[in-house]
Amino acid sequence: MATMKTIALLAADTELAQSLEQLLEGLPEETRFQHAQEDLREIQRNQPDILILGSAHHETAIETVQQFLTLNPSTVIFYVSERSDFYGMREMMRVGAADYFVLPDEYPLLESALEKTVRLLNQQEQAAVPSFKKGRGKVLAFYSGKGGSGTTLLAASFAQTLRLESTARVLLIDLNMQYGGAEYYLGLESVRSLADLQPVIEEVNEGHLRNVAQTEKYSGLEVLLSPRDAEMAEQLNDEFVAKLLRASRLSYDYIILDLPSNMNAINLAALEEADRIYYVMNLDTPSLRTYKSVESLFLRLNLHLEDRLEILINKKSRENEITIQDIKSLVEQPISVELIRDERNVQKAVNMGEPLRKEVNEKKLVPLAREIRKWVAAVIE
Ligand SMILES: Nc1ncnc2c1ncn2[C@@H]1O[C@H](COP(=O)(O)OP(=O)(O)O)[C@@H](O)[C@H]1O
Ligand SMILES: [Mg+2]
Repeated sequence: MATMKTIALLAADTELAQSLEQLLEGLPEETRFQHAQEDLREIQRNQPDILILGSAHHETAIETVQQFLTLNPSTVIFYVSERSDFYGMREMMRVGAADYFVLPDEYPLLESALEKTVRLLNQQEQAAVPSFKKGRGKVLAFYSGKGGSGTTLLAASFAQTLRLESTARVLLIDLNMQYGGAEYYLGLESVRSLADLQPVIEEVNEGHLRNVAQTEKYSGLEVLLSPRDAEMAEQLNDEFVAKLLRASRLSYDYIILDLPSNMNAINLAALEEADRIYYVMNLDTPSLRTYKSVESLFLRLNLHLEDRLEILINKKSRENEITIQDIKSLVEQPISVELIRDERNVQKAVNMGEPLRKEVNEKKLVPLAREIRKWVAAVIE
């Protein structure tokens, strides 16, 4: 069955907006219409299938189209105007608008273009084999306020396992801009880094991402490594990260983020964008105390966590200072998984420059890898 198609309308002129709304009400049932919004960013977040843009100023409209398509390259944009302007029209098509209509004369043309597009989008959707909907990749962020908890190891192993155990397209992004770390657990050499995307970030697309990402050989997991360079890191800001993540969502089903412990603008942008945050914790008092201060920081920063943050207990062993029960009584968020401390095998893999996993359905898995596999299976269910 075809899913609903969304049409967004952005028109500053209220008269124009009203007549367009009327037109939209008459469209086929499988079309959902997002009411006229002034806020372009809000519309962008909603990733509409079609955008109708009405504006009297061609220059600003051209900019809007360019900007919109950078973040939502699959949106079909129709530009409507009350005056016919050949040069404006040509320019509009050049930057990627699908069509241009002069109103009111061309209302019937716009109407049939909309119907045709909805039909085409439905056909494309039915023809597409993968069960994951393009453009809706999930962002899962791994974070801990306390360094050394196992955030990087778990982010890397989760991503690698997810890639091995499913058909999903998975991208791991190491946002520890200064020091990196993901390469260490995956046996990768950092030849290219996500800083290579900086020059093209305004129009970053799947091709760029694939060119810069390095592939982990056993699983096919793609990894955007950190520049591991303080100076370079300074040039990459929160806006860069927001654009990178939106583009990644269009090309991958899962985007796994490894975040550094210190709170900065990049971390914040990533946490804001994340569909889920896995907070890594060990069973000791410093971990608990750090969690509490992170929680109140998030609250002050107005980062909403309800339904989004889950706890990962890592390095569980007989010698732990506090128990799971202690955590449960002091922390509100749910515990997603409990993972054991497996010093010997983790160290061995790292020393050999190998990831924890090597193949699908592996028989001889080390205990930690087995636990991660079980957890990943439950997450993607
Ligand atoms: N479950 C585990 N068992 C054994 N060692 C672990 C485990 N998780 C993490 N480690 C080790 O703990 C150290 C810190 O891990 P890392 O992933 O770099 O933490 P973070 O990214 O939170 O700073 C590393 O030496 C890593 O190998
Ligand atoms: Mg780390």
